[in-house]
Amino acid sequence: MDNSPTEAEQYERIRTRVFRSSDEAVRVVAASIARLIRERQEEGRNAVLGLATGSTPLKLYRELIRLHREEGLSFRSVVTFNLDEYYGLPPQHPESYRQFMEVQLFKHVDIPTANIHVPDGMVSRLGVFECCLAYERKIGDAGGVDVQLLGIGRTGHIGFNEPGSAIESRTRMVALDRLTRRDAARDFRGEANVPEYAITMGVGTILQARELTLLAWGESKASILRAAIEGPQTDTVPASFLQRHSNCRCYIDEAAASELTRFRSPWKVGPVKWAPLTVRKAVVSLASDLKKAVLRLRDEDYAENGLAPLLVETGSTYSLNIRIFNELQHTITGWPGGKPNADDTNRPVPAEPPIKRVLVFSPEPLDAEIGMAGTLHRLVRQRHEVSLAYLTSGSLSVPDAEARMAFSLLHELGVSQPDSLARLGALAEETEKKAPFDEDSPELRRFKGLIRKAEARASCQILGLNLERVRFLDLAFYEQGRYRQFRWGPDDVKSIAALICLVQPHQIYLTGAGADPSSIAGIAFQLGSAALRTCTSEPWFPNCQIWFYASNERPWPPHEIDMAVPLSPAELAIKLDCLYHHRSQRSQTPFTETQAGEGWQQAEQINRETAQHYDRLGLAEYEAIESFRVHKESAVHTRLR
Ligand code: GLP
Repeated sequence: MDNSPTEAEQYERIRTRVFRSSDEAVRVVAASIARLIRERQEEGRNAVLGLATGSTPLKLYRELIRLHREEGLSFRSVVTFNLDEYYGLPPQHPESYRQFMEVQLFKHVDIPTANIHVPDGMVSRLGVFECCLAYERKIGDAGGVDVQLLGIGRTGHIGFNEPGSAIESRTRMVALDRLTRRDAARDFRGEANVPEYAITMGVGTILQARELTLLAWGESKASILRAAIEGPQTDTVPASFLQRHSNCRCYIDEAAASELTRFRSPWKVGPVKWAPLTVRKAVVSLASDLKKAVLRLRDEDYAENGLAPLLVETGSTYSLNIRIFNELQHTITGWPGGKPNADDTNRPVPAEPPIKRVLVFSPEPLDAEIGMAGTLHRLVRQRHEVSLAYLTSGSLSVPDAEARMAFSLLHELGVSQPDSLARLGALAEETEKKAPFDEDSPELRRFKGLIRKAEARASCQILGLNLERVRFLDLAFYEQGRYRQFRWGPDDVKSIAALICLVQPHQIYLTGAGADPSSIAGIAFQLGSAALRTCTSEPWFPNCQIWFYASNERPWPPHEIDMAVPLSPAELAIKLDCLYHHRSQRSQTPFTETQAGEGWQQAEQINRETAQHYDRLGLAEYEAIESFRVHKESAVHTRLR
């Protein structure tokens, strides 16, 4: 196989393979690991694997387990070294990385316990240095790591090597970055419960492995991957040091690859077919880079930025600018359900029927509010029949402190039946006895789910939704699992499909298309898509528009938006009020810096940024904008693209 980079990859300093889905990518990686293990077995030698934790490698581990069960792959001669461990967590702690590995891989395969190595999170402070040295020695004694698996954190960390980690760094104790702790808050039910320190292999330790395999999925990783793969080598993005390794490969999905030059600005890496969307992307990117309004772009702006071929293709700068300006203009609408009695030739939503049945799916309470509270409010005010379905209860992310507050309230109220009072007492006792991040009993989970329902109802009332049309599907997959351990099946799809068929909507709103496939939003998207596939022969389906709403993962640039719904200052205030009513999801330790930490702050920032982006391109100046993309399967798709 020719290993030299292609023209498209010329900006990439790490060899990167982009896959349509993470499933395809993990099959390739698992097959190469299996090959290594088998080759070594034939030679009578061990294969030494460096392992990673987090959501990213989950599917890979499932594929390795499948290879073990169905294709006889044995792990008897595999030796493993994990990248890192939280400091202060014992190996049996549910959130320790040792436990993670046990649940996700080790207990399902035939690896001997003696071959497993994970840094010891319980070593005394005084013993840390010695323990880290010993870990490095053990790697050396095993002959070094053959293949090191890596994920990437949003700070650009590998293992727990946060920004500032030196290229020579070795296994050591580190303090965790604020963003990393925020990202781990879900697993630990609140940021306050996330350990402050960890023990991690160093960047230098990682670079000593013979082969490095970095995996990444979802749009939340897109910008940090661009920095790591195309940016300069710098300790502010420790993953960029992987560029130094001669045998490092990234395996990423399309969403994670979206910021790489070959996708972001394909015209910079070679000739392109000027499809309408590529043209829009090129003009918007040019105007954004030059900080100019679209209508002010000149011939030389195109020529000096490698876009002369586009002008040849499309004629004059003037007509091209006008065309793109109009396209962008037509994405903006204050009538997300269509404007009755208006000419809808250039509107994203048809005028008819004037009153639409709208069905919005929210993976967890708060997701739909973050993405489209302002639009929900408009749809209701414009008299559409809006149904909102929360797919999961969201109970897993309710801290005990919130439950305690509700117990106390109910207690004060004097719950009348004595047995209710006793049950309440038992729940209160449970929160006192267990550690905040221990698993909850089913009763406590149910109670926490009720808290989220109450918050969701309160926020829906602010938006004016009819509570009879607000549904809680409490999908089974979520109720049986923990984060990173969900298994979903046909029953989950059936519940969603049944609701769609009941409502027979003119519009459906979904999210999660670009999310990590193991996240709740990613799972919700897969379930929603599967449910839609079962509806395609329904008589109402051809007239149903399917929209995606944006999440907090990444602001969408205007060329990716098919419908932009502007919010006035008053509407933005209503949105924030609505988000704020999800009080169990507010952090107990708010960010004080300018960086937006809380979900509602991020949503506000993203909606404002989108509006500013439209403004900079020379369109109207709005306070904030919510963004939507049309689904390829949707009836409205051909009309818009
Ligand atoms: C943690 C781990 C890293 C991992 C990163 C990304 O901080 N220590 O090894 O790569 O998170 O996590 P995820 O895969 O869940 O996005």
